[in-house]
Amino acid sequence: MNLRFTNEQIMMQKMVREFAKEQITPFIPQMEQHETFPREIIKKMSELGLMGIPIPEVYGGAEMDFTSYIIAIHELSKVSATVGVILSVHTSVGTNPILYFGTDKQKEKYVNKLATGTFLGAFGLTEPGAGSDAAALKTTASKVGDHYKLTGSKVFITNGGEADTYIVFASTAPGTGAKGISAFIVEKDTPGFQIGKKEKKMGLHGSNTTELIFEDALVPKENLLGKEGDGFKIAMANLDFGRIGIAAQALGIAEAAFEAAVAYAKGRKQFGKAIGTHQGVAFKLADMATKVEAAKLLTYRAANLKDNGMRCGHEASMAKLYASKIAVEVAIEAIQVFGGYGYTTDYPVERYFRDAKVCEIYEGTSEIQRMVISKQLLG
Ligand code: CAA
Repeated sequence: MNLRFTNEQIMMQKMVREFAKEQITPFIPQMEQHETFPREIIKKMSELGLMGIPIPEVYGGAEMDFTSYIIAIHELSKVSATVGVILSVHTSVGTNPILYFGTDKQKEKYVNKLATGTFLGAFGLTEPGAGSDAAALKTTASKVGDHYKLTGSKVFITNGGEADTYIVFASTAPGTGAKGISAFIVEKDTPGFQIGKKEKKMGLHGSNTTELIFEDALVPKENLLGKEGDGFKIAMANLDFGRIGIAAQALGIAEAAFEAAVAYAKGRKQFGKAIGTHQGVAFKLADMATKVEAAKLLTYRAANLKDNGMRCGHEASMAKLYASKIAVEVAIEAIQVFGGYGYTTDYPVERYFRDAKVCEIYEGTSEIQRMVISKQLLG
């Protein structure tokens, strides 16, 4: 694997780094205190072409490689993990399922709008009784004339209430498990579809997480994605790539926490010298640096495999498992380096910790990642 970025990838890194620092940083207090969804930021990201980085030009995207997209998530998340997850969900599981499994008509109708940021995408798999055991979902879809009638509910949906389209999974053959699950493109103003409760969360305050409620929602039959029964595989295949995005988000948070800790350790003096020169702090920083570097290698390796058209589900799970674990550890250690100040909202390290935790939960918990990895090892 070539570990050096191409000129194009370096340009992406520079552009997103500057954009995040200059345009997103001023918006953070509003997101943190008022849980304001960053609409304005998404508008600017659309203008920069960030809403469709790996999507072909013919569908309105920037047609860059997957690694460039991962660079963008990484850099955005260093400043705001909220903006990082909005883009990751929008692209990996909100847009790609249509690009990979949609008909030409579906791609023309939806991918164009999603890739240009005219539409925001979301993904509805999880239900109150079906989280890790996704195949146990209870939402049903039955054919009624030219429509499917969807009945049921979804929970913890990122971009819920803000998205224009939702990739929704429902059973067209109840009682048959994974084989009976189908995927649908559901538009926000579909009759019978409404947004339920908005969650109050520990972190990611600017990101909307809501319930979706389907009460005999009528989805046109041309919005079936793939064939009836293809849904579970569509969900799993796109989660493979989505998990690299979440690894990049966790990596961004970890790197931000690490860099904040180094800067603080250089400036803060106790016992007559910078705290970073005390071995107790210096060794902490060394461990944090090593963890961040290892997470970076796993994340970009998974992205590189995807760019080379190779299977990467196993590596995506490893990257997500490790990067999310160390994001929590590094953020906690950064708070420790900051001492009492780190526990206050005057410094960003407490936010990094709150934002990091969910990376071990969504798009498959760490326990699910271990299942995916061990299944491949043991057959
Ligand atoms: N790609 C393609 N197909 C796959 C696949 C993959 N990665 N993984 C499984 N499949 C296929 C299998 O081949 C199998 O097909 P066949 O029957 O034809 O062989 C079928 O799917 C069923 O596979 P399993 O028997 O392995 O399925 P399972 O019920 O044991 O579940 C699981 C496997 C890995 C535990 C899965 O349920 C899972 O990933 N659970 C976690 C769910 C999850 O990640 N949810 C995230 C919600 S989205 C989110 O969080 C987004 C957000 O808003 C931030």
